[in-house]
Amino acid sequence: MKTIISISEMQNFSERARLRKKTVGLVPTMGYLHEGHVSLIKTAKKSCDLVVTSIFVNPAQFAPNEDFVRYPRDIARDKKLCKSAGTTVLFTPEAESMYPKGYSTYITVEGISSVLEGKFRPTHFRGVTTVVAKLFLIVNPDKAFFGRKDAQQCVVIKKLARDLNFGTEIVVAPIVRERDGLAMSSRNIYLSPQEREQATILRASLLHAETMVKKGTTKTAEVVKEIARLIETKPAASVDYIAVVHAESLTELEKFEPGVPALIALAVRIGKTRLIDNTTIILH
Ligand code: PAF
Repeated sequence: MKTIISISEMQNFSERARLRKKTVGLVPTMGYLHEGHVSLIKTAKKSCDLVVTSIFVNPAQFAPNEDFVRYPRDIARDKKLCKSAGTTVLFTPEAESMYPKGYSTYITVEGISSVLEGKFRPTHFRGVTTVVAKLFLIVNPDKAFFGRKDAQQCVVIKKLARDLNFGTEIVVAPIVRERDGLAMSSRNIYLSPQEREQATILRASLLHAETMVKKGTTKTAEVVKEIARLIETKPAASVDYIAVVHAESLTELEKFEPGVPALIALAVRIGKTRLIDNTTIILH
């Protein structure tokens, strides 16, 4: 595995790969890798000749009151995980080269960036789509791999790739979970043991919602109410949002209906840690 820090070196590598007719898969990450990232790298390895994993804690997607400074970092451990999962190039650009002094160009996918997460983190997706567009331009990947835990991010990035004709296929991989169901996240490290236990309510409430729908509940409001009730049984939990939206357009749904993919998405603070999770239900 080769580590590249310089943007121009990364661009040269990608150009050479293209000339050699090698397909390139990109796994963009912010580091502090977990099994979810490892599975993305392994998935990329299966369908691409070369896998570029990027590690960049992107300041543009954090609001001033968020955890940019304390976001967990462990590059030595990340390097080992990347190598064993099959990364060809680890790309770790520096903030000063991604956003040099005077940087002022941002990309916004309008509409779908403003709902759900966007309501609570108004500048978040502008930061995500800007950095992802920059990574796509630098690496020029055939495919890019993202985890479904960030369901809205996947929808926004698909739209970005389509609207700006990137020609990169966006591959969305399933959520990887801990044994007790908690979705893997670099931020889980912030949880105290008591909070960690209470955090399992996110997945448990989503499973309960799936059962309700399978048993015939069609009104989304009833399901949302029940998820909220379950989450509120945990003293450390406070809900930012629970929403049922169309899985592709992200417009709110009033009913679960056959053939309509319904995304149940939630964001919950457990103590000071903000966690997200989701499930998609399609009735037949
Ligand atoms: O999902 C993430 O880790 C980040 O939002 C991403 C896609 C790497 C952009 O910084």
